[in-house]
Amino acid sequence: MKKTIRDYELNGKKVIIRVDFNVPIKDGIITDNNRIVSSLHTINYAIENGAKVILLSHLGRIKEENDKKDKSLKKVSDRLSELLNKKVIFIDETRGKKLENEVNNLKNGDVLLIENTRFEDLDGKKESKNDEELGKYWASLGDIYINDAFGTSHRSHASNVGIASNLPSGIGFLIEKELNVLEKAIKDPKRPLSVILGGSKVSDKIGVIENLVNIADYILIGGGMAYTFLKAKGLPIGKSLLDEENIDFCKKMLEMYPNKIILPIDTVNAKEIKDDAEYTERFVNDTKEDEIGLDIGHGTVKLFSQYLNESNTIIWNGPVGMFEIDAFSNGTKELCEVITNTKAETIIGGGDTGAAIIKLGFKDKVSHISTGGGASLELLEGKTLPGIEIINEK
Ligand code: 3PG
Repeated sequence: MKKTIRDYELNGKKVIIRVDFNVPIKDGIITDNNRIVSSLHTINYAIENGAKVILLSHLGRIKEENDKKDKSLKKVSDRLSELLNKKVIFIDETRGKKLENEVNNLKNGDVLLIENTRFEDLDGKKESKNDEELGKYWASLGDIYINDAFGTSHRSHASNVGIASNLPSGIGFLIEKELNVLEKAIKDPKRPLSVILGGSKVSDKIGVIENLVNIADYILIGGGMAYTFLKAKGLPIGKSLLDEENIDFCKKMLEMYPNKIILPIDTVNAKEIKDDAEYTERFVNDTKEDEIGLDIGHGTVKLFSQYLNESNTIIWNGPVGMFEIDAFSNGTKELCEVITNTKAETIIGGGDTGAAIIKLGFKDKVSHISTGGGASLELLEGKTLPGIEIINEK
């Protein structure tokens, strides 16, 4: 068991908390602050326990000087200050005298946020490649390190693995909850366990399929990846997305697990991918040569419902249609309705799936939306996450 923030005496200590404030920002406005809100529990706990709180996060990817323009954490700092109802000291640098002086002047309960850790990537990818000296430097600013950036824990960065290698460490409440929900669901699920898998490419989900096929009772496949499975069954898929290299993998899975892997029986097809495209719902053996399958059909929703209604745990990773376009969002929307009306614990992967659930208005009706897209996927693949692995054991 990993140590948690509860295992440390925080009063008067400089506590570095790695958060994941990698939030979407459009035209200078934060469009979804879920990740900031989800980190408040740990930050407030540290404040209430008299810590001098030092926050670190990345935002986006920084490849050239110009990328820094709209990737400053200043806006996030302002939003955090509103949410905490408290001043947040924002340092527009990732290292140096100004930062060190401000850190030394912190009083118990103060909160300081350091600029985007990936600004360090301009100098030889120091953050992303876990530069030893950078991890040591950031660690020298604090007494205790708490990782609460679940969404980044599949990365081995200086701001997580690097600092944790140099300080006593623990996980925060956000990571603790993610692990309790996700690890329990795959290690000791209340059965039946159904997994809905969608998203575009089979290649992105091979690890998850290989791991979960041994754990889940049913795997319901939708989204772009379903067409490679349908092709593997010898069905016509027109111009739908095809992951040619993985047809054999799909064939093998279907042969080995014919009653566990459930495929669509009908799909919503169009000739073009656009907002006002004309579309037709067809049985999977009827798809025409010039059509693209873009969503699951009503028959498939009904079929999937039979498995979902009898499930006690449902894990969902990947939208089952191109939900960004209204005409092709119906399957994802109907499945949201189905799962939120079952008795099952409903666990939603981060990234696109979480975004779809939120966009379609089901955020408060599911049991858990993960704050990590890539991280939750790697956990479902059965991999260990380096940002968590490095944390001290109890
Ligand atoms: C995410 O949004 O998945 C995490 O913040 C990690 O970001 P990255 O994919 O840029 O490393």
